[in-house]
Amino acid sequence: MAHQQLPSQSAIVGTEENEQEAIDELIASLPISEGLVRPVHHLYQNFWCPITMLPNVIAFQRHFKAKDKDIVLISHPKSGTTWLKALLFSVVNRSRFDISNTPLLTSNPHEVIPFIEHKPWLDLDGLAEPRLLATHIPYLSLPESIKWSNCQIIYICRNPLDTMVSSWYFLVEATRLMDKPVWSLEEHFETFCQGEILFGPFWEHMLGYWKESLERPSKVLFLKYEDLKEDIGGQLKKLAEFVGLPFTEEEEEGGVIEEIAKMCSLKTLKDLEVNRSGKLFGRTIEKRSLFRKGEVGDWANHLTPVMVDRLNSIMQEKINPFGLQFKTR
Ligand code: A3P
Repeated sequence: MAHQQLPSQSAIVGTEENEQEAIDELIASLPISEGLVRPVHHLYQNFWCPITMLPNVIAFQRHFKAKDKDIVLISHPKSGTTWLKALLFSVVNRSRFDISNTPLLTSNPHEVIPFIEHKPWLDLDGLAEPRLLATHIPYLSLPESIKWSNCQIIYICRNPLDTMVSSWYFLVEATRLMDKPVWSLEEHFETFCQGEILFGPFWEHMLGYWKESLERPSKVLFLKYEDLKEDIGGQLKKLAEFVGLPFTEEEEEGGVIEEIAKMCSLKTLKDLEVNRSGKLFGRTIEKRSLFRKGEVGDWANHLTPVMVDRLNSIMQEKINPFGLQFKTR
């Protein structure tokens, strides 16, 4: 894996006329990490960004103007993004749709809440409010208007042991689709521990949002995959309160929380026709590969004791001192 570490780059500045040229120049100047099978990643502002998304990330940073009512769902990849998209969409739109007519029956969660960095820059002004948007961009690299407007951020992450395993399966699927040789678990583990994964290093990603959630709890809601697994009802209430749409007593008694939880469960989403076939993200991913096991502790079926020790010590050194802990079983 050839790459050189350089100090962080700041976002480019330029006039509209020379914008593309400036972006191309900036990209050409960035350190590269090129694995055996995956597309090239660039170290941009201290995170590893795939070349396919980098121009979109830069355009997002330069042009996006957050509105106060926007809700931005942010995650470290493979941490439960798809699940949270379904839950957030259902909570926010529950006065428009119930489980008999929810768009989730006919669209994948990634189609109802799009990733900004997956598409060339779009003017989002026409979208209905509150606009629900998603990204994997680390906190420090978010557009300033997201940080400083009254829009809200909902972040989800997951214990790194399961995230590592989940991301490996995802990568294996992606490389299979690209007809490239499979990246071994050991190779992926090494890359993960070095932080050279999509939008990594994972510790910086989590900590950026963790610290902000402690400082500004009404701005950033920090969720963990394991908590959602343990108490989906409690976490749904927390989510609804955070976005200013708490469940009423009537709704609670009428079983609305349970209905949303069931509609968004792995089993329901996985079995829907819309999620069983077809591709997403520029046809690089099969929709069905987004829904695998969804268990806490699956790492124990894949990682050796040496691997577990190594990831645990990365967590102890880089994450735990800031008060961020994960359940791993
Ligand atoms: P596993 O690979 O461990 O099964 P992301 O959506 O961020 O890509 O995360 C993918 C992980 O979330 C996968 O974990 C996937 O199975 C799990 N997942 C997807 N939908 C889910 C749901 N509705 N409920 C619980 N887990 C879900």
